[in-house]
Amino acid sequence: MKIVRTKSDLRGLTRGWRAAGETIGVVPTMGALHEGHLSLVSAACEQADRVIVTLFVNPKQFNNPEDLAKYPRTEESDARKLDPFDVDVFYVPEATEIYPEGFATNISVNGVSDGLCGANRPGHFDGVATVVTKLLVQTDADFAFFGEKDFQQVQVVRRVVEDLDLGCEIVGCPTVREASGLALSSRNLRLDDAARQKASAIYAALTDATAMITAGQQVSNVLDQTRDKLVKHGLGPIDYLELRREHDLALTEDTRDPARLFVAVWLDGVRLIDNVIVRDT
Ligand code: PAF
Repeated sequence: MKIVRTKSDLRGLTRGWRAAGETIGVVPTMGALHEGHLSLVSAACEQADRVIVTLFVNPKQFNNPEDLAKYPRTEESDARKLDPFDVDVFYVPEATEIYPEGFATNISVNGVSDGLCGANRPGHFDGVATVVTKLLVQTDADFAFFGEKDFQQVQVVRRVVEDLDLGCEIVGCPTVREASGLALSSRNLRLDDAARQKASAIYAALTDATAMITAGQQVSNVLDQTRDKLVKHGLGPIDYLELRREHDLALTEDTRDPARLFVAVWLDGVRLIDNVIVRDT
């Protein structure tokens, strides 16, 4: 695995692969790799001839400077975690490779970015859409792999790719969970053992709520009960707990729609998000 830090070095490699008729898969990350990321890397290695994993802690998607400052930076251990995989390039660009002096473009997606995390983290999805567009162009990827824990992010990126004709297939991969049900996230590193234990109530509450909704209980009642349950387990405040349609992320109470239940909740100063399928496509 080569470590590449400039887009011109990267271009040198991708041009050769393209000339040989090889496909390229990319796994965009901000580092602090865990099993969730590694499941994306494994999917990429199965699907594409060449695989690039990117590491860039994107300042534009942090609306809270403290969150950006606290974000773990673990390039060396990340590179070691990629060793067992057939990764061709670990692309770790300097900030100027992504945002050169004078950079003034912002990619902003309406609709799917508006609710959920978009409502609570102003500017976050503009930052994601802008950096992912740059990474897809720089890596010349045919496929890009994203975890469905961040399902809204997946739908935002799908919209950008379709609207801007980027010609890259966005592959959503299932959320990887700890045995307790807690969705893997780099933010979990900031939780102590007791908080991690409490956080396992999130998935349990979502799966109970899904069972109640599919059994025909009124969605608003189920959501109220689920909020109470989360608070009783010491979680909160809750930024949102909502049932939304999969394809456009519009709010719904109609359980015939393919839909997911989404939550964002705070625990010991850490904001945790998760979602589960209530009705599959
Ligand atoms: O999910 C992430 O880690 C980031 O939002 C991404 C997709 C790498 C863009 O910075």
